[in-house]
Amino acid sequence: MRLITLSSAVLALASAVAAATGKAEGFAASVTGGGNGRTVYPSSNSELVNYLGSSEPLNIVLTKTFDFIGSEGTATEDGCLPWGTGSKCQKAINKDNWCGNYQPNAPRTRITYDKAGMLGITVGSNKSIVGQGNKGVIKGKGLRMVSNVKNIIIQNIKITELNPEFVWGGDAITINGADLVWIDHVTTSRIGRQHMVFGNQASGRVTVSNCDIDGRSSWSADCSGNHYWGMYFTGSQDMITFKNNYVHHTSGRSPKVQGNTLLHAVNNYFYSNPGHAFETASGAMVLAEGNVFQNVKATVENGGGQMFSSPDTNTNAQCRSALGRPCQLNAYGSSGKLTGTDTGFLVNFKGKTIAAASTANVAKGVVNTAGYGRV
Ligand SMILES: *[C@@H]1O[C@H](CO)[C@@H](O)[C@H](O)[C@H]1NC(C)=O
Repeated sequence: MRLITLSSAVLALASAVAAATGKAEGFAASVTGGGNGRTVYPSSNSELVNYLGSSEPLNIVLTKTFDFIGSEGTATEDGCLPWGTGSKCQKAINKDNWCGNYQPNAPRTRITYDKAGMLGITVGSNKSIVGQGNKGVIKGKGLRMVSNVKNIIIQNIKITELNPEFVWGGDAITINGADLVWIDHVTTSRIGRQHMVFGNQASGRVTVSNCDIDGRSSWSADCSGNHYWGMYFTGSQDMITFKNNYVHHTSGRSPKVQGNTLLHAVNNYFYSNPGHAFETASGAMVLAEGNVFQNVKATVENGGGQMFSSPDTNTNAQCRSALGRPCQLNAYGSSGKLTGTDTGFLVNFKGKTIAAASTANVAKGVVNTAGYGRV
């Protein structure tokens, strides 16, 4: 009797973690991921890779660390030192002759990097990738959604250790030609290049929520421990909801937005950034509301994009016609202020699924809820 009770308890636990928890808010609200597909528990790197790449709808539950470091060997070659020779400066891999083309005067240095980090694991359509508790960790390799895949949920996992010493050492999450992707409660840390890169093809509808973008690193382009290459949203046809994320110890691209990207940045907490948070280049359409900036030197570097910075309650009432509600004020502590009162692009929100906005006071709490192991 006791045995039967125990096994049904285990079964109940298993089905509770089988699929993703909750629902996406904002642009990717209709995502279902693996949906009613099988639930699988990969036990090896190759099983994980096969499940992720399959064409079957799957709920893939990660119950351990999948360590890819060393799985494809190492490469030793000449790289360069674009940011200085200090021990805390990031070095650059000469990927596609990047050093030769863009850093002709930087000193050269012999480097050894891990090859597995360079290219992420391909993820097929109709997948949920969900970590169990705080056990779902992928080390040394990222995830990559390309070739027009659709309907993917990544929830409650950590991606870490992608050649953090070297720019071009790997991207944690890549979207380049996709639609309907929800990235929720994901922690990215110690990454070589981008924590998230969405471009140059269409990323379609994306929601990034409750993520911990942890820029702390022993090597960085600012040579002081704050990763520069945070998020790069540069797709040709992108609608991104970015809500309740904790973005900290970065020094640039947090995020950089360009291409043709409508970004709703709402209720995020940006903390400790000696460089810049937003970079708005040509094609960026950024609505920033209800965010908190604490110790962020420049909250925005404007390179020709558009931003509505939700500057005061009178101006924020202009959100009503497109969003059906006023926008929320951002809050600042020892930080520069966002600028930008572009309202022309707000019409693009009309008829879309739009994330709700709480006050910036509420956003400060994401430090206790963002990241993996907290679903
Ligand atoms: C994903 O699921 C949808 C809905 O069931 C289906 O139409 C589509 O063909 C699936 N995609 C792939 C690549 O199997």
